[in-house]
Amino acid sequence: MAAADAPVPELQARATACAERLLAADRVLLASHIDADGLTSAAVASSALERAGIPFETVFEKQLDAASVAGIAERDYDTVLFTDFGSGQLDVIADHEAAGDFTPVVADHHQPADADTEFHLNPLLEGIDGASELSGAGAAYVLSRALAEAGDTEPRLGNRDLAALAVVGAVGDMQASGGELHGSNSGIVAEGVEAGVLEETKDLSVYGKQTRPLPKLLEFASDVRIPGITNDERGAVSFLDDLEVDCRADGQWKRWVDLADDEKQTVASALVRHAVSRGVPAFKIDRLVGTSYILAEEEQGTELRDASEFSTLLNATARYERADVGLAVCLGDRAGALDRARELLRNHRRNLSEGIEWVENTGVTKEEHLQWFDAGDEIRETIVGIIAGMSMGADGVARDMPIVAFARKNDEETKVSGRGTGPLVGEGLDLSVVMREASQAAGGDGGGHDVAAGATIPAGNEATFVEHADRIVGEQLD
Ligand code: C5P
Ligand code: C5P
Ligand code: ZN
Repeated sequence: MAAADAPVPELQARATACAERLLAADRVLLASHIDADGLTSAAVASSALERAGIPFETVFEKQLDAASVAGIAERDYDTVLFTDFGSGQLDVIADHEAAGDFTPVVADHHQPADADTEFHLNPLLEGIDGASELSGAGAAYVLSRALAEAGDTEPRLGNRDLAALAVVGAVGDMQASGGELHGSNSGIVAEGVEAGVLEETKDLSVYGKQTRPLPKLLEFASDVRIPGITNDERGAVSFLDDLEVDCRADGQWKRWVDLADDEKQTVASALVRHAVSRGVPAFKIDRLVGTSYILAEEEQGTELRDASEFSTLLNATARYERADVGLAVCLGDRAGALDRARELLRNHRRNLSEGIEWVENTGVTKEEHLQWFDAGDEIRETIVGIIAGMSMGADGVARDMPIVAFARKNDEETKVSGRGTGPLVGEGLDLSVVMREASQAAGGDGGGHDVAAGATIPAGNEATFVEHADRIVGEQLD
């Protein structure tokens, strides 16, 4: 493939090298991360391996560390493909490579550790931002396109149909949180649109447009808080009842997707007017509209039709030790796996709202440069980061300082999650450095992205962690 035809031209040489290595393998162990981006990464990579005729097996890890990499090495595969993680653990991986345990191929977007390897596809190595311009699933997509080019088989659309899953991964990693996807992600969106698997629309940017009844859609849209509607069921109902739009059919509330275009326009304009009249500032009102990414081949009114709802559905599986369910949905299982995923989604939603309520009721502790809370056993360690991010801007939680959250992993270990905002990153915040250095000072390890990162530390060392993290954040924002 000429670089000009490649979805992300800067990464083409690396993608081709990785693809050729995979095509030369007898069989491949595919290892990926347990979140929406990790699942879609695995789905994209496994589809591409399958289509290329390369035998493989898939495993998921909550996190990659010395123990999990050693477990992978014991599986006796001579080639291991890591997606959505691997770069941050290249020091550990390189030791296994040097010992002849396996050859690593890495398609990731996390901050690399101080070691490199021959087959390494990561946007950060080419000056592309891994937190906002390309996700793990995006990196896997670039690899899948190179596999289509380098192999003997000729998969449908050169694997461009996999762009839909790549976009679900990027949206799941919050890469569209500025309103739309940008950077290298745009090239992937363009290929998906051209292949007919994706549509982009400018629309109300609230979560649940496919599946939520209209009052719930508005009531729970908490990104931009609108007095008299947000968290106010009766307010939301009376707002809708006052409109010249029929929001019910057969006595049931319609969903956003059930409205005609002019009706959507009417509701959106009224919502903006209402927000203005209640004093919501202009920069927040701008955030009410954004780009939606529609999976054109999925049925309207389902979670799978909208990239943002799809990604939440996936988090509801993988973060609860059911990555197999999420992967099956990604790979096309619309029967048993989808039903199971929907059950898990109900549970996940409940956990998120209870978790945020817990943070609001318990409060956060403010240091000089950051705020933190320790959820102990109250919040599952696999979702404490999501809750930390969602709680920023909630009652009593500031948005102008990063948040650090602790949750118990087991008797010996504590999980740490850190979340920031775009503006804080603009001022110099890099949580991947904060998490790595503060956790190492507290006897653990961590990493991630500038805006979102995590770590594991020995239980009991939380205060040491906070002390170091507060100092490092202070230095970064100085
Ligand atoms: O491991 P991975 O890169 O897939 O995870 C990224 C994490 O960072 C996700 O949990 C995502 O929600 C979070 N994130 C965030 N805010 C951003 C970017 C990413 O909370 N602006
Ligand atoms: O677990 P959490 O959602 O807080 O993770 C935020 C980001 O930090 C993710 O991209 C995750 O892969 C990364 N992370 C990491 N090393 C850890 C924990 C998290 O690189 N030990
Ligand atoms: Zn990711």
